[in-house]
Amino acid sequence: MMKKLVSITILLLVAIRAEAQVIRSGELWPDDEGVHINAHGGGVLKYGDTYYWYGEHKAENTSNALVGVTCYSSKDLLHWHNCGVALSVSDEHGHDLERGCILERPKVIYNNVTRKFCMWFHLELKGRGYDAARYGVAVAERPEGPFKFLYSQRADAGTWPIEFGEKELAIVDTLDVANFEQQWTPAWLKAVGEGLFVKRDFQSGQMSRDMTLYVDDDGRAYHIFSSEDNLTLHIAELTADYLHHTGRYTRMAPAGHNEAPAIFKHDDTYWMITSGCTGWEPNEARMFSSTSIWGPWQQHPNPCRGPKAEKTFGGQSTFILKTDAGIIFMADIWRPRHPIDARYIWLPIEFEDSKPVIRWRDEWKPQL
Ligand code: DGJ
Repeated sequence: MMKKLVSITILLLVAIRAEAQVIRSGELWPDDEGVHINAHGGGVLKYGDTYYWYGEHKAENTSNALVGVTCYSSKDLLHWHNCGVALSVSDEHGHDLERGCILERPKVIYNNVTRKFCMWFHLELKGRGYDAARYGVAVAERPEGPFKFLYSQRADAGTWPIEFGEKELAIVDTLDVANFEQQWTPAWLKAVGEGLFVKRDFQSGQMSRDMTLYVDDDGRAYHIFSSEDNLTLHIAELTADYLHHTGRYTRMAPAGHNEAPAIFKHDDTYWMITSGCTGWEPNEARMFSSTSIWGPWQQHPNPCRGPKAEKTFGGQSTFILKTDAGIIFMADIWRPRHPIDARYIWLPIEFEDSKPVIRWRDEWKPQL
């Protein structure tokens, strides 16, 4: 009996010691079973007094989705419990979520009216690389799922952005991808800015890759995603049930080449942090602000400070979490050759001269 008690105590102590006591960005982050958290490109939802962290399950040797979207729960943002797979890939041949597809950057928001948890994510169909450029939508009754997959598609087919009036449409009328033998010339970039690709994809729907979701104070929600060959971000309004686009959308930073959008609001100003487009390699974070979600957006210098600040500390933004105790910037340090070993960057956002600043910290603890 005594022996048993001693071994249980030792086991418990080992488990407690394995758990994270502070946030150390870039290092392994063990869950309550001592296993590195597997929820990449993710986002966090607070429901009741619990935080739910949703992210991509990454495998040992491939970035393709072999499992689906994982969910972890925590009361203090430090100690996380693995709640399992929230949205599972499918074994059905030809299914949108067929095992081996690319399923990235899942985000979940809660709809107060329908009382459903709504998940949106970037989806690439199996075997088609990054060609499909779709968003997917799933819904659940409970935060940890199971989420039921509803549909995947491209965005806003047959609809122009709200800022395209007569003048803009007259310019769009003159644009044609066939007129550009060479890409990345000033003339091509100008045409992209004017809507060259919006026109190209008008019938089939706009491309939808890296993404986030945002619920505003008035309950309206928005889907923000890299579109137009990752050259322009789109901000699309969601229907009241958070399961579809309404058809109202705006383009942000046209031809600016932004990925990895993350957004928060502070004192009536919307702040968006993005990355450039360099695959799994880190690059310099970008920051934008606006007093309306519909823009105009103004660009600011890189908000990161400290070692490797010019490379977002080796990471790429994924989400910004507003808590009672402060605002947290979340990013991923990708490990494309060993995806499961990818790491997390979580750092507080402070304000300096009324602008967000992300200062590197070797370790810190959220004070909730
Ligand atoms: C950068 C994106 O931000 C990631 O989510 C992923 O799609 C990689 N590109 C793939 O290279």
